[in-house]
Amino acid sequence: MEFRRKDLLGIAELAPEEIRHILATAASLKDISARPIKKVPTLRGKTVVTVFYEPSTRTRVSFEIAAKRLSADTLNLTVAASSAVKGETLMDTAHTLEAMRPDLLVIRHPASGAPHYLARRLKCGVINAGDGLHEHPTQALLDLLTVQEAKGTLSGLKVAIIGDIAHSRVARSDIQAFIKMGSQVTVAGPATMLPPFLSSLGAKVTCSLEEAVTGADVIMMLRLQLERMGQMYLSTLREYSRYFGLAPRHLKLAQPDVIIMHPGPLNRGVEISPEVADGAHSVILEQVTNGVAVRMALLYLLIGGEKA
Ligand code: CP
Repeated sequence: MEFRRKDLLGIAELAPEEIRHILATAASLKDISARPIKKVPTLRGKTVVTVFYEPSTRTRVSFEIAAKRLSADTLNLTVAASSAVKGETLMDTAHTLEAMRPDLLVIRHPASGAPHYLARRLKCGVINAGDGLHEHPTQALLDLLTVQEAKGTLSGLKVAIIGDIAHSRVARSDIQAFIKMGSQVTVAGPATMLPPFLSSLGAKVTCSLEEAVTGADVIMMLRLQLERMGQMYLSTLREYSRYFGLAPRHLKLAQPDVIIMHPGPLNRGVEISPEVADGAHSVILEQVTNGVAVRMALLYLLIGGEKA
């Protein structure tokens, strides 16, 4: 199929066949990262700029690695050392960068909708690397690829997504992504962290971790986002961990070949025990590896290929 998008802003606007095309492209590019010389000339002459207004390790580094493996030139704007700290607006910063003729801006921003706002006004492509509490579409795509590799399919799987749903853009993107691809999604967390719109996305909702993981093929634990909590959502970390921390005993309730996922970074001993995070069922580092492949695919589909 042809992929005619200028931007990648969310899972919400992607059709299942577009998602399948991105995953197939990522699978075909993954081998490049396993070669002795991890570089192909596909995006030679293209320029990718990453602009992260929030901290990141996995997403920012994997976009840079992905671009370099495809021979694009990359530039990371360090926002804390940029004119943003002198009060320059997001739009002025974006117009300034665009005047230097990049082909693509990759942006993470605390305001929901910031990448969409830029995409409507810029000629160059925009990729959403996480916007506020809204979406983190490239995380969802790498999660799909990881599950597809482990299970051979995405259809008919029982996926449990557990934890701080209220503050998780990963949850919003993953719920939509897995449901679009035919999985059944159950979300679980404390009642204070379960926003009312979840069932309208097609997810089953429960306050019981045990209920969510029973029979699950995939368990996705979410980071407790203490930095986004402006009010009290839980009594103590210890109590949260007792009721919503994934421990080895929970795995006995799931399918024998259950896989354990986490988008990172982990709060070890809070939402996930070290034994589970580092155990035989964990695919957390495969998620990171697949992040490079998915981001290579998106760079190729947005600024390479037949449009090059
Ligand atoms: N999963 C994720 O977005 O991680 P980073 O914040 O390290 O990019």
